[in-house]
Amino acid sequence: MDNVNEALIALRDKTMAKGYASATDRYIEKGLGALLYDVAGKEYIDFGAGIAVMNVGHSHPRVVAAIKDQAEKLTHSCFMVMPYAPAVHLAEKLCRLVPGSFEKSAVMINSGAEAVENAVKIARYFTKRQAIIAFENGFHGRTYLGMSLTSKVKPYKYGFGPFVPEIYRMPFAYCYRCPWNLSYPECGTSCADYLEDYFIHYVAAEATAAIIAEPVQGEGGFICPPPEYFPKLKKICEKHGILMIADEIQTGIGRTGTMFAMEHWGVEAEITTVAKSLAAGMPLSAVVGRKDIMDSIHAGGIGGTYGGNPVACRAALAVLEVFETENLLQKSKALGEHLRKRLDGFKERFEIVGDVRGLGPMLAMELVKNRKTKQPAADETKAVARFCLERGVLLLTCGSYGNVIRLLMPLVITDEHLEKGLAILEDALASLEI
Ligand SMILES: Cc1ncc(COP(=O)(O)O)c(C=O)c1O
Repeated sequence: MDNVNEALIALRDKTMAKGYASATDRYIEKGLGALLYDVAGKEYIDFGAGIAVMNVGHSHPRVVAAIKDQAEKLTHSCFMVMPYAPAVHLAEKLCRLVPGSFEKSAVMINSGAEAVENAVKIARYFTKRQAIIAFENGFHGRTYLGMSLTSKVKPYKYGFGPFVPEIYRMPFAYCYRCPWNLSYPECGTSCADYLEDYFIHYVAAEATAAIIAEPVQGEGGFICPPPEYFPKLKKICEKHGILMIADEIQTGIGRTGTMFAMEHWGVEAEITTVAKSLAAGMPLSAVVGRKDIMDSIHAGGIGGTYGGNPVACRAALAVLEVFETENLLQKSKALGEHLRKRLDGFKERFEIVGDVRGLGPMLAMELVKNRKTKQPAADETKAVARFCLERGVLLLTCGSYGNVIRLLMPLVITDEHLEKGLAILEDALASLEI
């Protein structure tokens, strides 16, 4: 590490809160496509995309041009004071792209957690019910409501209670570690039917405003349910007048080979949250939902000073153009198929790879010390990430047991960088087996 990096580490130690921690100690100066460069000029192949934010790649020329152009015209007026065109154009696009054959409307805010907050506010207001059902291994952010909906205790919740009331949690379809110890498909996805039982034991259906779920759980370990799971949940919700909030913050904007992951499940949630890759790193999120539900809120009931900032909206419009002009959904699908083959190959070669799962290119490997006991291999997972970082590949881990390696590379990654990165990942796994 060079002097600039060391100096930044020392200054940060002195001046920045320790809880605001980073996964690595390398300070980054610039990014281009799927590459990052640190302050010492070292190059990294980015397999993390700033936690699923840079689907179109770093510093995409179209996005940079849109940001520059808008910054020269207007950076802020507050949409709630004097509105502007980019936010309206973006809303129109999002209403078209978010799954749902019904009329929709949208509200823009700043972060994923804020989108979740608003989605829950809207669901409670519309249904006049209070309870929200979330899932084990779910992640919905770090604000009080986001944290209350989030499952994993450490580091997200420990010491921060009390939490927001009227939040209930049921097990998710985590087939590799089935909470009921059943196997798919013999189980008949009874974990979805369990929602009816849940209303008997934990909270009444008629008191429940919404269930909130990630189509594929992200931070929880890229847990991908069987195809029947969401359609079954949705049917039960509809029977009881319960709304479904699809948290597509990590899965959205092409991450799973379709614009939104719910398209794989054929489910139209009444409310969808969008953030992360929406604006390629500019802080922007949105709640998009059935128009009658969204429009039920009184004027001024939702919004915020920076929500739908014009520069962020222009960046988002540019991101959506990139998807069209560069056929990114097609690329995402092809990337997913290729990655799946490579990861399945890793599973065949390395005992430590217990499970390969995900949707499209949103794929992960769960590492275990023993395939029979499935004892999580958290230290080894950290060692793989360290090994890769040393050799120039930035890799993220996740999972309730900290033993999942997730792949979130920008969808624009070149074949050359992809292969180079995967070869280093393979070496990392091989280094564990010796
Ligand atoms: C599914 C999901 N929901 C909500 C959030 C919170 O987003 P933010 O960190 O922008 O508040 C995240 C972030 O990782 C997420 O993956």
